Amino acid sequence: MTIIDIITKKKNKEELSYEEIKYAIDGYLKGEIKDYQMSSLLMAITINGMTNKETFDLTEIMLNSGEIIDLEELQPVVDKHSTGGVGDKTTLILAPLVASCGVNIAKMSGRGLGFTGGTIDKLESIPGFNTSIDINKFKDQVKKIKVAIVGQMGNLVPADKKIYALRDVTGTVESIPLIASSIMSKKLASGASCIVIDVKVGNGALMKTIEDAKKLANLLVEIGKQHNKKVVCFITDMDEPLGYAIGNSLEVIESINTLKGNGPKDLTNLVIELASYMVSMAKNISIDEAKQEVLENLNNGKAYDKFIELVENQNGNINNIKISKNILSIKSKEEGYIKHIDALRLGENARIIGAGRLSKEENIDFEVGIVLNKKVGDYIKKNEELLSVYINDKKLPEEEFIKCFEITKEKIEENKLIKEIIV
Ligand code: URA
Repeated sequence: MTIIDIITKKKNKEELSYEEIKYAIDGYLKGEIKDYQMSSLLMAITINGMTNKETFDLTEIMLNSGEIIDLEELQPVVDKHSTGGVGDKTTLILAPLVASCGVNIAKMSGRGLGFTGGTIDKLESIPGFNTSIDINKFKDQVKKIKVAIVGQMGNLVPADKKIYALRDVTGTVESIPLIASSIMSKKLASGASCIVIDVKVGNGALMKTIEDAKKLANLLVEIGKQHNKKVVCFITDMDEPLGYAIGNSLEVIESINTLKGNGPKDLTNLVIELASYMVSMAKNISIDEAKQEVLENLNNGKAYDKFIELVENQNGNINNIKISKNILSIKSKEEGYIKHIDALRLGENARIIGAGRLSKEENIDFEVGIVLNKKVGDYIKKNEELLSVYINDKKLPEEEFIKCFEITKEKIEENKLIKEIIV
């Protein structure tokens, strides 16, 4: 067997065997297979796809390429993943909310890259918040307060780390089998028994069409079944940002407001639905019963108290979250209904003014970002504020923000946030 035979087979749309996939992945990790050869195989997979069997095999091979965290003593443990979007701060609210219902949540999160934000960057905008605790402290904290959120730890799925970095620069990110195996190998290695995945769809998401989002969601659920894990996939809108805030400190503040019952409608509703499924799966109760508990704890302050407990246990202090004092108010030049908000472009703008990074080495400015004043379906008058931009040293012309909004005279319905739930 040679890597050239394997590339050729995939190029000719043939199914690869378990041994062939393992040969390619193991060889690449050892450095025996070169970047240019793996790139070629990834491109053949992106163009010609993979059968379900190939995708299951790839997931298993990636999962076994590194450490697997054993959370047996804490089960049932729930986990949540989002395929990434703009203004997506659900984990910050969801994790303490679910924990306040008595469910263990051991969450390993990532940093933002490009136009999408990451939970770890958001948490680090809380002064002192420590996102790199070791595995034993992580487990002890979950035992003690039912929730911990940390960055990637240990040597989990090194194959994904190496291959994802290559995909990022070879135009091979948008492949459904590659995305499914990448997400599920990491989720399976993180040790939870119940997993909720929010598959974002729309202009600000990896999946641009509902058909592709459904394909990905079905595959994620199937991989979960193969590994005896309960997996539920939500397909949710990412044609406009989630909530109003984009940018790290601003998103933490919006999350705190949501935990206090004063959050944006779309964000609050999504959190309630996701949390209900997580609590239902972990406690083996109906969605309706779970939703009652979730709503109660959001309204009686228990979820907010759990957030404070989480922050304090990881050495953070919410009294000192900094946002820029330099605020630019951008006004609408026309009157009408907001038809579309370009989430991708707004996310990109937020990154340019310092809220995100393009390379892993870049520093983030936690104080900057965007707060929308209107969402799709809202009416806006001429000269009324569209959004405010919190800036420091990196600037962008006003026009770049105005371009993100499409305004029309016809009445527009608000976006349907939850498109489908796949179990
Ligand atoms: N998120 C992942 O973890 N992997 C992908 O391939 C895409 C999104």
